[in-house]
Amino acid sequence: MLDLLVRNATLPDGRTGMSIAVRDGRIVETSAGLDAPAAETLDAGGLLVAPHFVDPHFHMDATLSYGLPRVNQSGTLLEGIALWGELKPLLTADALVERALAYCDWAVAKGLLAIRTHVDTSDPSLLAVDALLEVKRRVAPYLTLQLVAFPQDGVLRSPGGVDNLKRALERGVDVVGGIPHFERTMAEGAASVKLLCELAAERGQLVDMHCDESDDPHSRHIETLAFESQRLGLQGRVTGSHCTSMHSMDNYYVSKLLPLVAESGVGVIANPLINITLQGRHDSYPKRRGMTRVPELMAAGVNVAFGHDCVMDPWYGMGSGDMLEVAHMGLHVAQMTSQAGIRQCFDAVTANAARTMHLEGYGLEAGCEASFVLLLARDTVEAIRLRATRLKVYRRGKLLAETPASTAALHLEGRAPATDWMNARNR
Ligand code: FE2
Repeated sequence: MLDLLVRNATLPDGRTGMSIAVRDGRIVETSAGLDAPAAETLDAGGLLVAPHFVDPHFHMDATLSYGLPRVNQSGTLLEGIALWGELKPLLTADALVERALAYCDWAVAKGLLAIRTHVDTSDPSLLAVDALLEVKRRVAPYLTLQLVAFPQDGVLRSPGGVDNLKRALERGVDVVGGIPHFERTMAEGAASVKLLCELAAERGQLVDMHCDESDDPHSRHIETLAFESQRLGLQGRVTGSHCTSMHSMDNYYVSKLLPLVAESGVGVIANPLINITLQGRHDSYPKRRGMTRVPELMAAGVNVAFGHDCVMDPWYGMGSGDMLEVAHMGLHVAQMTSQAGIRQCFDAVTANAARTMHLEGYGLEAGCEASFVLLLARDTVEAIRLRATRLKVYRRGKLLAETPASTAALHLEGRAPATDWMNARNR
């Protein structure tokens, strides 16, 4: 007897009429037309069932703090960092935990069940670190939270930076972070990459650095990150986040860089909503888009994922925890408008992001965790187009969230009520 049988589902790879059989929180079989007795049966009605969404890059210590203590007037990254500096002394653990838990509720409702969040380690009290470790424990029954020790003010630039970061790791933070482009010089940035990669290698931890989040084409810390990853045998365990300078780099240099990044097994995370907002701010016209070279990195064999980065914080006043909105922006900024390109953008917020986080048992095949989402869309392309309603969200075979389908009621003179043409169900 199964616990749950999902029938007549379309999967992200395009297979239709699929059944997913679940027992003890795991998928025991995924096959076409399977029917078997189950405690609960869900008819997907031909709609898309996808593994849950994954956000590989977020800042949960800052989320939902928009307007505290003031709004970012210039909208720049640097004013955001300064504003965060003003907010930090005012933070309390309770408020931080409360905001983070509220965001996790939003995430679950949107089928976002795994988040890698950076946590600022610059403050010697490690207040934010302790608060997010507490949040990680509290949400563990319904959401996987992975923490990155993130020295926002520069691990070498800020007094006690290395010590604070090490203490955060000792308290249980999962991943080693960094911000080489914010160190005082290029040389110091490179030294920080070396030091942090060595620390990760010593401790057997993953690496995820904010790397070259800048429009400066000469910000080339991704090269050092790739070199150190290879030198230390960290292939597949290191991620460069943002890498926006790559947008502005010389094409000849990039033709050498991309194979180097691929060879070193370094993954890249683009944050489309934030990159399109914060980059190019020093430009007049034409204004650069500033997002890293997503299709070219993918074509070179690099694992590229998309992150949300910010939701209502000193850097960004928008967002709702919807990774389909992230994918939607990503495909626009990268001009990935072919059907294959759109599907790649869906992968960037699901399978690729899961690979970045080293999530165990992710997917829809037998043996995977039964953590998936029924979307009001017929396929991944439509899911992104509509930022489709998450009709049902399951984690380990248990229903966590439901959102009803909604249809617009039209009141138009002289026209019979039309079916809602935007709604997948009515076509
Ligand atoms: Fe970030």
